[in-house]
Amino acid sequence: MTVKAGVLVAGSCNVDLVVRGRTLPRPGETVLGQAFFEAFGGKGANQAVAARRAGARVELVACLGTDAYGARYAAALRREGVGLRGIRQVRAVPTGVALIVVDGAGRNQIAVAPGANHHLRPRDLVRVRPLFARARVLLVQLEVPLATVQAALRLARQAGVITILDPAPAPARPLPRRLLRLVDLVTPNEHEAELLTGIAVRDLRGARAAGARLCEQGCGAAIITLGARGALHCWRHGARHVPPVRVRTIDSTAAGDAFNGALAAGLAAGRSLEESLHEAACAGALATTRLGAQPSLPHLDAIQRLARRRSLRPPRPRR
Ligand code: RIB
Repeated sequence: MTVKAGVLVAGSCNVDLVVRGRTLPRPGETVLGQAFFEAFGGKGANQAVAARRAGARVELVACLGTDAYGARYAAALRREGVGLRGIRQVRAVPTGVALIVVDGAGRNQIAVAPGANHHLRPRDLVRVRPLFARARVLLVQLEVPLATVQAALRLARQAGVITILDPAPAPARPLPRRLLRLVDLVTPNEHEAELLTGIAVRDLRGARAAGARLCEQGCGAAIITLGARGALHCWRHGARHVPPVRVRTIDSTAAGDAFNGALAAGLAAGRSLEESLHEAACAGALATTRLGAQPSLPHLDAIQRLARRRSLRPPRPRR
C-alpha cells in the first residue's frame, strides 16, 4: 500500500528583481525607487516553499534554466527541503524572471519573462508519475502552459489526490470546463474570479455569485480571496465567510502563494477545510508583513500562533 503524504506542486520558478518605491509607474512613466533587491519567486516555487514551511513534505515539478540563476535556485530549494525529483534544467534557456515594483502601500506590479517555465510539458509530469501516487494534495497555477496544468490535474485525479488550482496570473479567457471539472478547490482573487465567470466581484454578494458559477462550471468548491475583506468559501448552494486577518502590510507579493501553500499543507496533514482555511488566511496575512516573495513566507509556528490568537478573539460583527 502507498502511504499518502505531502503536497505536490507543478508550476513556475522565477527570480524576482524588485524595486521598492513610493508609487507604481503609470504607462510611459519613470518613477525613482528607494531600494532594489533580488529574491526567489514564481508562483509554483513560492507555493511549494509555503507548503514546506507550513509543515508539509513537498515535491516540486518545474523547469529552470541552465544559467547561474538556475543553479542558485535549485540549491535554495534544496536548503528549504523541497523535493527536486521533478526539476528539469532546460539547456540554453534562461530561468524565469519577474520584474516587480512595490509601492508604499504594499501594492505591486509584476511583469514575468517565463523563460524555462514555458518548457514544462505534460511529459515532465508523466516522468514523475509515482510522485502523484504519494501525494495527498496537488497545487497548480497558470504560469506554465495550460496543457501541463491540465495533465497535472488529470494525473492527480486518477491517483485520488485533492486538486487545488490557483488561477493566477489571471487567464486571458475563461478556462475550459474539461479542466475545471478536474479541480476540487479553485482559489481566485476578485479579479481572477471576475475574468473566469464574467460576474463582477465587488462585494460578498458578487463573490458568492461568482463562486457558485465556478461550481456550476465543474469545480468542487471555490475559495475567493478578497484582500482586506478576507475570503469566501463557496459551494454550489452556499457560502461561508473567512474573516480577514488585520496586519500592517508592507508588501503583498506572494500573499496568495502563502495562502495556497498553507491551505494545501493543512489538508495534506488531514486538518479540516475550515481549519486549513483559517491557517491559510493567517499565512497570507503574515506574508504581507515582510518584503519579497519567498523571504516573506511564514513557518508553521508563526501561522499557528496567529491562528490561536485569532480564535480566542470574539467574532467581529459583520457589516
Ligand atoms: O505571486 C508572486 C509571484 O508572481 C512572484 O514571486 C513573481 O515571480 C510572480 O510569479
